[in-house]
Amino acid sequence: MNLFLLGLPGAGKGTQATRIAETYGIPHISTGDMFRAAMKNGTPLGKEAKSYMDAGNLVPDEVTNGIVRERLSETDAQNGFLLDGYPRTLNQANALKEALSSSGRSLDAVLYIKVNKDILMERLTGRFICATCGATYHKLFNPPKVEGTCDVCGGHDFYQREDDKPETVEKRIDVNEAQTEELAAYYEETGIVKEINGEQDPDSVFEDIRNILK
Ligand code: AP5
Ligand code: MG
Repeated sequence: MNLFLLGLPGAGKGTQATRIAETYGIPHISTGDMFRAAMKNGTPLGKEAKSYMDAGNLVPDEVTNGIVRERLSETDAQNGFLLDGYPRTLNQANALKEALSSSGRSLDAVLYIKVNKDILMERLTGRFICATCGATYHKLFNPPKVEGTCDVCGGHDFYQREDDKPETVEKRIDVNEAQTEELAAYYEETGIVKEINGEQDPDSVFEDIRNILK
């Protein structure tokens, strides 16, 4: 299955992607995660991406298209993949189409997680992440079972994303709003968009996704 998870910042893409990737055995390809890993390692890609990400802007298409094209050519992505946060512009959607068609592939479904804008600010400013394994939590909506201990790896160190400060969150939502609608309309024409109500609890959202993918 070749899948793309579409949704505004905080819609729950990462939360659902972890579950989908595990359940269906396909790699989770998140451009945001790839940029953050590059930033952490201090690579030239990370240095370039940092200034855009910290300001809540999009990293230029030519940079993003290049890293995804490369990632999709890796062995583990040949029998299915789950794209999270890419494509984000029409230029990226066209680049993806080209990259996939050059190897005889195409997208099977676009899972569009819809959440009202008002809810996103609270979700993002309350998010925290395990520093050891990257598991994502929310202080109110999705806390670890034992306070201060990661459910997945038992780690005790957590951090907040640099771009989850309220002023940057607002900017990110603004930057992505029009583009997300545009992309949904673009894929709508191909008949592969499946809308999902992302305002339910994470288990119910996943249940809906599983029913769609059946
Ligand atoms: P990226 O990392 O992709 O961030 P984003 O799109 O802004 O989305 P988030 O990761 O913030 O949200 P999410 O939908 O994954 O939500 P999550 O599951 O964590 O991109 C970051 C930056 O990188 C961009 O701003 C840009 O600069 C750059 N970039 C990335 N891709 C790019 C591209 N293609 N082109 C150009 N630039 C690019 O959930 C959020 C919170 O809500 C968590 O706390 C979670 O626990 C909670 N939560 C999740 N689901 C639920 C639920 N159902 N109910 C209640 N709470 C929930
Ligand atoms: Mg994410």
